[in-house]
Amino acid sequence: MAITVQTYTTKEEAVRVAADAFEALIRERAKAGKTAVLGLATGSTPIALYKELIRRHKENGLSFKNVISFNLDEYCGLPGTHDQSYRYFMNDQLFNHIDIDKANTHVPLGTLPDAEIDAHCKSYEEAIKAAGGIDIQLLGIGRTGHIGFNEPPSSAESRTRKVHLDELTRKDNAVFFGDLAKVPHYAVTMGCGTVLDAKKVLLLAWGEPKAEIVAKSIKGPQTEQVPASWLQKHKDCVFILDKAAASKL
Ligand code: PGA
Repeated sequence: MAITVQTYTTKEEAVRVAADAFEALIRERAKAGKTAVLGLATGSTPIALYKELIRRHKENGLSFKNVISFNLDEYCGLPGTHDQSYRYFMNDQLFNHIDIDKANTHVPLGTLPDAEIDAHCKSYEEAIKAAGGIDIQLLGIGRTGHIGFNEPPSSAESRTRKVHLDELTRKDNAVFFGDLAKVPHYAVTMGCGTVLDAKKVLLLAWGEPKAEIVAKSIKGPQTEQVPASWLQKHKDCVFILDKAAASKL
């Protein structure tokens, strides 16, 4: 299977295309009286998409009442009230501005003692299955090639688990914390296998700093050294890029 690449002149155009995919799924399922199951991502990449979905909710009546969401990952040690936790991010950037039932939003817990993490990860996987599986999984990509927080090396079969963060990832995310020392060293993340189980995968990437890893993921060998390269195995994976992120293809 090859990854489908769609390149747009501007990020705004690219964001509209991604928003269209989510809107079409949500509306089609609502019409049929069914739920839509979304896999959601954090970081700077999806912010513009979330703004566009909020706009469509407020201006076009797009309702999220039938949406169930599962986030990719969460930092270990940060409670949902911490402004750098991904639970906080999701509430702040999306959930607080739309009509989704918060009880239907899932973010892995980063605050459990080690002895309880495995059971939590198993129940996260089970909850995804019980919801019917993820219809569309949204992804960003880290410069290490990570998807979620699956740093190299991560196998194609990896499942939700506690992981150690790469130093490059910690440095890239230090801007949000204001200080590298405050960036956690561990996280809980869905695995590459969890992501590959989604019916459709949309990966967004903007800007020149992502160009090299985007090219490696699409054209390079499938390897645990570039976890995003496992997406080549997926039967419906689309990379939605701006020109700069596509510049090394
Ligand atoms: P970013 O991170 O959106 O902040 O660039 C993407 C990622 O690490 O997956």
